[in-house]
Amino acid sequence: MGMNNSCTFETVLLITFLTSYHMSKTTLISPDLSLDAAWELVHQHLTRAVSRDGAREEHAFRYLSLATVDVQGCPRQRMVVLRAFRNQREFVIFTDSRSDKVAEITANSAVSLLFYDDRRGLQLRVNGAASLIVSGDDVVTEWSQRGSKSPFSYTSVLPPGTPITHPEEAYTWKDDDSALFCLIRVEATLMEFLQLDGIRHRRSERSWIGDEVTSRWIAP
Ligand SMILES: Cc1cc2nc3c(=O)[nH]c(=O)nc-3n(C[C@H](O)[C@H](O)[C@H](O)COP(=O)(O)O)c2cc1C
Repeated sequence: MGMNNSCTFETVLLITFLTSYHMSKTTLISPDLSLDAAWELVHQHLTRAVSRDGAREEHAFRYLSLATVDVQGCPRQRMVVLRAFRNQREFVIFTDSRSDKVAEITANSAVSLLFYDDRRGLQLRVNGAASLIVSGDDVVTEWSQRGSKSPFSYTSVLPPGTPITHPEEAYTWKDDDSALFCLIRVEATLMEFLQLDGIRHRRSERSWIGDEVTSRWIAP
């Protein structure tokens, strides 16, 4: 009898939790969507995160964790801003060419990206190869149109990570040095979303071999 009561109590708790979960989240990937439609929505979500119509500032996918591998083979993560998303699998990030992540990518192009949209309950993980774009039209355009709008981010006299005795020592910047500004371009080889939804979560992975793409549902 006592056991039945406690089971009933736990069931009520579980239902209460799941109901409140549903009320607090607006899922992006609804249960009725086909695999292709689900991935199309994920692409639209990423595109919105970089759109210039003002929506991006508040967008959860604007910020992501970029993981690289250091020379000892240890993973290293840091937050970055997503600047562009193209061709269903290409991600662009701005950085300072003197930063550790650039040296790590030069030695090992394998990277992973992680996004999470709490309001939608949507996680996106990306594995891929990073390349560095340090000169050329893309760099010139991005620097003149966008990089220079935040010159303090990429023009510090001291390279990022330099040991200092006081924060003030780092507060000098070069006037305009686009040579320190570079783009990190990540081409995905594997993308995986997890849509949280009470207990009926949905998870899918999409992988590329060359230009050939394969998608499938997987157990959450
Ligand atoms: C919210 C947020 C956004 C950031 N965006 C960028 C970015 O877009 N590019 C960048 O190089 N660093 C960015 N940073 C700083 C990095 O997290 C990191 O501290 C810095 O780039 C040095 O990283 P590294 O030494 O691993 O190369 C951001 C930090 C935060 C907290």
